[in-house]
Amino acid sequence: MKRLLKVGVAGATGAVGLKMLSVMSERGFPVESVRAMASGRGDARTVPFGSLALPVEELTANALPGLDMVLFATGASVSRQFVPIAVAGGAVAIDNSRAFRMEDGVPLVVPEVNAEAVRRHAGIIANPNCSTIQMVLALKPLQDVVGIKRVVVSTYQSVSGTGKAAIEELREQSGSTLAGEPIISRVYPHPIAFNCIPHIDVIDEDGNTREEIKMVLETRKILELPELQIAATCVRVPVFHSHALSLCVELESELAPDDARRVLGEFPGIRILDDASDAVYPTQLSSSGTDETWIGRIRRDASVTNGLWMWVVADNLRKGAALNAVQIAELLLDERSG
Ligand SMILES: NC(=O)c1ccc[n+]([C@@H]2O[C@H](COP(=O)([O-])OP(=O)(O)OC[C@H]3O[C@@H](n4cnc5c(N)ncnc54)[C@H](OP(=O)(O)O)[C@@H]3O)[C@@H](O)[C@H]2O)c1
Repeated sequence: MKRLLKVGVAGATGAVGLKMLSVMSERGFPVESVRAMASGRGDARTVPFGSLALPVEELTANALPGLDMVLFATGASVSRQFVPIAVAGGAVAIDNSRAFRMEDGVPLVVPEVNAEAVRRHAGIIANPNCSTIQMVLALKPLQDVVGIKRVVVSTYQSVSGTGKAAIEELREQSGSTLAGEPIISRVYPHPIAFNCIPHIDVIDEDGNTREEIKMVLETRKILELPELQIAATCVRVPVFHSHALSLCVELESELAPDDARRVLGEFPGIRILDDASDAVYPTQLSSSGTDETWIGRIRRDASVTNGLWMWVVADNLRKGAALNAVQIAELLLDERSG
């Protein structure tokens, strides 16, 4: 029997942290106790864990020793400060921020794609960027069967990917727009209601955003393809939940769309929804609240040799963040009991 664990969730009041608690409860993650931690400045006094209301504690260095596992759903600077303290106190840390993702010795894991990397951890395991997770799920089966040469991706990312303040911003701005009232932007540089913003995170000297660079570097690390050519454009769209990707993959050799449907559909975590002539394909609304990565609109890209287009949709708070982190925790559990 698996041992019951003392688990901490840091950032438990945020969009990802709350989802981590609900995913752990839904999946019956074997906990002896769960501690919910946040800044100490927020309004939430308790957060739900199944039928329980957990008190929200302030995340401090003293709060971390004695835990077996801490799931971090905090920003990079908070993670940089507290993840090493959690690890020094005896815990394994699973971190959702970008703080440790590209560090040598820190596995960057999507369990269906590179579960074996978990074994190489030295206390910290990183959860990849949300758009990267759903993209590598679509790329891995193609890489295994025919090989991939070049990837061009455009994202359509929901506001929940930015966190709870952005969910509120879209809600408020939508109401204000419909009421003909002034629009106030606090989170994004432009109104997000009834708009699309081709700018996620900071822009570098070459004109790429950090989100675009993350998709390139993290994909290469997870797939262990350091030379893979990837071009990304990341766009924020006025959708509450789920990210969509328009993904064009140049393969090493030919794979007919029907064969791609079969290969992708047999891969764990992927569901095919693809009968475009009957308007059957995944959308952000249809994928919200689900655990799978949904793929449709699979077709040849005749503009390149061996090109394949697809439309890839997943719930960013579930597979793109909380579910993936809990699946990593489950892999660790299997290791401990194995
Ligand atoms: N949203 C996504 O789809 C997604 C996907 C993948 C990865 N991530 C990453 O996951 C992390 C969390 O994102 P999110 O979307 O959940 O953000 P969020 O909704 O803004 O939540 C942030 C959480 O961090 C806590 N926090 C802020 N400052 C803190 C401090 N000084 N000490 C302790 N806790 C503090 C907040 O607590 P208070 O309530 O007390 O302020 C809140 O619980 C980020 O690194 C993000 O990049 C997000």
